[in-house]
Amino acid sequence: MNTHTTQISNVLIIGSGGAGLRAAIEAKQQGMDVIVLGKRQRTDVHTVLAAGGINAAFGNVDPEDSWEQHFADTYIEGYGLSEPEVVEIMAKESPILVEEIDKWGANFAKLENGKIDQRFFGAHTYRRTCYSGDYTGRSILFALINKAKSLDIPIYDSQYVSDLLVDDNVCFGAMAFDIQSGERTVYLADSVIVAAGGHTRLWRKSSSRRNENTGDGFFLGLKAGCKLSDMEMVQFHPTGMVIPEEMAGTLVTEAVRGEGGKLINSDGERFMKNYDSDRMELSTRDRVAMANYTEIVEGRGSPNGGVYLDISHKGKDFIIEKLPRMYRQFLDTLMIDISKSPMEVSPTAHYSMGGIVVTPEEHWTGVEGLYAAGEVTAGLHGANRLGGNSLAEILIFGKRAGDAASKRSKEIDVHIRSKKVIQQAHDNLNSSIKNGTEVARPLQRDLRNIMWEYGGVVKSEVKLKKGLDEIKSLKNASKDLDVRPDSEGYQDLMLAFDLEASIVSSEATLLSALNREESRGAHQREDFKDLEKDQTLNIRIELEEDSKIKLSKDKTPLLRKELKNLINKTKEIKNFEGMLLE
Ligand code: FUM
Repeated sequence: MNTHTTQISNVLIIGSGGAGLRAAIEAKQQGMDVIVLGKRQRTDVHTVLAAGGINAAFGNVDPEDSWEQHFADTYIEGYGLSEPEVVEIMAKESPILVEEIDKWGANFAKLENGKIDQRFFGAHTYRRTCYSGDYTGRSILFALINKAKSLDIPIYDSQYVSDLLVDDNVCFGAMAFDIQSGERTVYLADSVIVAAGGHTRLWRKSSSRRNENTGDGFFLGLKAGCKLSDMEMVQFHPTGMVIPEEMAGTLVTEAVRGEGGKLINSDGERFMKNYDSDRMELSTRDRVAMANYTEIVEGRGSPNGGVYLDISHKGKDFIIEKLPRMYRQFLDTLMIDISKSPMEVSPTAHYSMGGIVVTPEEHWTGVEGLYAAGEVTAGLHGANRLGGNSLAEILIFGKRAGDAASKRSKEIDVHIRSKKVIQQAHDNLNSSIKNGTEVARPLQRDLRNIMWEYGGVVKSEVKLKKGLDEIKSLKNASKDLDVRPDSEGYQDLMLAFDLEASIVSSEATLLSALNREESRGAHQREDFKDLEKDQTLNIRIELEEDSKIKLSKDKTPLLRKELKNLINKTKEIKNFEGMLLE
């Protein structure tokens, strides 16, 4: 089958989450014809799960706050692996974008003076996290959807992008099929933006749901000629649900700790005092995740293999006002009233801090006409992400990518459209529909088990090599997939593409982790326990002609003098002096 319909736009956006929609809005406001493609239903994309808040240094509650402090907190807690310019842009621009989305209907909680309220989140020096209860992602997403609707931006749900169309390092669109009907569409565009999320569904315990964050955005980028960076930097959120089994990993928002929640072990001890006695439960995510992990593996965990998180001392009215989703989640799934009983929690794979390498200002990938934004990119978070920065990231860099993509569209005179490349994309789809002996879903589950066992919170050379070996066997098995579209739709085909992307993303992650012989932030190695100053570098991954993964290392961009001075002024520097001030 080589038939398709064709759709043409100036800017094509792959991913209908927050980054994609913000990019689309920017492009549309610049007079572009825009199309947004999403594989899920638009109101149910991953952004809807983001809970506790979005950071902006307004200083509404703590007037001492400033963009400089936000910069310093983010950069320092990224253990020197972030790209300084990206962090600077985020810290400076988030107040503008947060105010804007509030006006568009995000409807953040307000203080009595009408200003946006701000709560504590881990490792932020001041209260800077703006929120709508614990439904912040949902309120942002719905505001973006409404804005996109008011601008008549077409959003096509159920579109699975199988390939970006690239000829001679120029991207001119994408091939997609409809997950229900299988109908293929060639989307031709002057510029393309990938905003397709990360890969943390690839761990057994994950805060992502089925069929999201499967690494498909990374794989699209790799196949198109982009580089990935810092794939080993996978954030484990300290608090995911432990039971029931089918909910294991589901996010228990950091806002619980931001609003006063305490972590307690089976001895009744508030154990964070042994790990970060200053910041306690509001330490960095990597430290709290390691603390929870350590308490559990050393035998001080709860009966179901977690630790306790207790907010009951705050009372029911407070909890229902500030944490309505958490209240419902535990009541609905476990019949636990968290205003009376503690929650059981343990680390869960939550966020891909690495991803496609992009330029700081435009989020250009290095492939002509191809941009990326949001979790699919690398650069902002380094080795540890501060909670609340990702929602800021999607708005700021979504807008910037939309702007850069529009500028390119206005500037170019002629645009390539290679029939050969379109045919290759058809061939890729055709050859994926076949009768084999293996089924994608169980293989995807096997992969999640491998990633959890061998690429989990604490890694080692032995574990990582074993993981890579097991992925190799799984890759061989995946060559004989059974893919049979039927009256139920083309889910099989989507799963086959997702599985291939997941395998490559997993390999890239374990290989990068093997090559980082130190412990830094979210990357913890039991055989290399210390941070090594000479490893302040970014590990890059690219695909060679024969689809083999190639790994290289680049020195992380240094801080400019004024940013270094700025860091020096912050009180946190004492912990990191040696690393940063070389
Ligand atoms: O815990 C949370 O609410 C997550 C926030 C984030 O990852 O930014």
